[in-house]
Amino acid sequence: MCGIVGYTGTKQAYPIVIKGLKRLEYRGYDSAGVALQQNGKVKLYKKQGQVADLEENIGTQNVEGTTGIGHTRWATHGEPSDRNSHPHLSASGKIAMIHNGIIENYAQLKSELHRKGYTFNSDTDTEVLLNFIEEIKIQNDCSLEEALRIALKRVTGAYVILLIDDENPDTIIAARKGSPLVIGVGKNEHFLGSDASPMLEYTKEVVYVNDYELAIVKPDELILKNIGNEKITPYIQKLDIELAAIEKGGYDHFMLKEIFEQPQTIFDSMRGRLDAKAGTITMSGVQQYSEQLIKANRIIIVACGTSWHAGLVAEYIFEEICRVNVEVECASDYRYRNPVINKGHVIIVISKSGETADTIVAIENAKEKGAIILGVVNVVGSSIARLSHAGAYTHAGHEIGVASTKAFTAQLVVLTLIALKVAYMKGSISNERYKKLLAELEAIPEKAAWILNRHESIKKIAEKYKNARDFLYLGRGYNFAIALEGALKLKEISYIHAEGYPAAEMKHGPIALVDDELPVVFVATKDAYHEKIVSNISEIKARKGMVISVITEGDEAITEISDDVISIPEADEIVAPMLTVIPLQLLSYYIGVAKNLDVDKPRNLAKSVTVE
Ligand code: F6R
Repeated sequence: MCGIVGYTGTKQAYPIVIKGLKRLEYRGYDSAGVALQQNGKVKLYKKQGQVADLEENIGTQNVEGTTGIGHTRWATHGEPSDRNSHPHLSASGKIAMIHNGIIENYAQLKSELHRKGYTFNSDTDTEVLLNFIEEIKIQNDCSLEEALRIALKRVTGAYVILLIDDENPDTIIAARKGSPLVIGVGKNEHFLGSDASPMLEYTKEVVYVNDYELAIVKPDELILKNIGNEKITPYIQKLDIELAAIEKGGYDHFMLKEIFEQPQTIFDSMRGRLDAKAGTITMSGVQQYSEQLIKANRIIIVACGTSWHAGLVAEYIFEEICRVNVEVECASDYRYRNPVINKGHVIIVISKSGETADTIVAIENAKEKGAIILGVVNVVGSSIARLSHAGAYTHAGHEIGVASTKAFTAQLVVLTLIALKVAYMKGSISNERYKKLLAELEAIPEKAAWILNRHESIKKIAEKYKNARDFLYLGRGYNFAIALEGALKLKEISYIHAEGYPAAEMKHGPIALVDDELPVVFVATKDAYHEKIVSNISEIKARKGMVISVITEGDEAITEISDDVISIPEADEIVAPMLTVIPLQLLSYYIGVAKNLDVDKPRNLAKSVTVE
């Protein structure tokens, strides 16, 4: 969702801000804009479309200035258009603002401003808040910083705001609540961003701004304050991401690069934790809450989208080896319910970005009720990581393709490790099975590489089915969630309608869809349900459906009755989802590419869903 960038220092701001916006393109957006301080005045440039369209539109205009802010907008209030793009200018023309988030009470603030004679140039909540701040500044004859502080006390919703104005040269004023803000610290310069990617090539020292904090940022000074105007000492952290991690590295798309990184990222997610020979799993966060996890008679997993699918796989694993009741909840729905959560209940929260607004609110609510929150999060230092009592990072590295791939397999690894550790501590798994599963886990990176080496055959299948109007994805047991994930990936990347369903449930409705034009993808590896899924495939073939099966290598029975097969190496059913998902990621990718679509930035989607 919206991306923000800021720079104040001794260099030219425009190229840094534009480059930063390009680094944030992966978040998803529909328009872009920049505001610069030029000779004591703020100047705006904005355009619907891509950052490249903005650059083209600016052309040879004067973009000099050493302080600037930039924005990529993902429309919430008002359609994507030039006039709704950020930055916005206040009524006096003296203050420019960019905003990521939603001002929930903007309608009320807008009618107050209407009564005072304000008119608006856009349909956005951002312009309302900006004029509200300016009105407070005029009425109280105070500084912009003070006016912002007063205004924020009246505002409900989520925001990261950056302001520059005519009266505070070389200064960016920022505030955050519920949306991420990182400040990079350089020599006589500061960088601001929705994440660290816009500043990576300039500095590795960053400050993560917390909710309800304001920052007054000048080239040689960073002042952090809370909303009560008390100064806070900035806590500078060192980033451990390299620039190469956010570049394509020779691949056509970030999505493909990230799919191919999985043997490494899966290994990274186990590194230092799994020692199959010694039979140990080291996870300090889990160890810290071992008593609660062993005693828990109910575990609730909360997540959205692909992370929710990882939760669904984990449900089956925990149930099987830890013998505990597990509920998996979509955070976007769960947050509005009145769930039964009591002190000491264990909630596992899964999030790649660590910034998903729905997930944040869901766990904040649970935390208030006394739940213990264990985070399975990819982005170090993110809001969800900080809100969690303990947890385990997934270590998948920076994921830029909007459709989540390597983050998902890393989530599966970490959740499996947690389940195995709990099962071992609890004594709910036999020693022999425990040891076998550790060895199975250890072998996953190599098996993932085996699948990736056969990507050409998946490309051919993609070519064959790329014009289908609908797809059905079916799986049983552990692979049911993979059917859901396969269908989600296809929808996201190719805009083909796809449904994931439990294979056994098919006969209760979806089978009516089957005809000779419907490709049905079966996730049908050798597991406890194998015979049953063979019957399900036959049922589809009897109705002339086209069957693509993901099978265990050498499975003659399914090969014979399928139109196309994609093999994976033999693997225990508990770890198989880490492998079966990979061909489905590739299938979506190749179909998207064959249809000439922008697979890294699919329409309407955002990488980090920071609004409700
Ligand atoms: C799909 C995808 C989304 C995210 C969802 C949750 O490819 O990426 O469905 O999984 O928006 O995001 P996180 O995991 O960042 O909380």
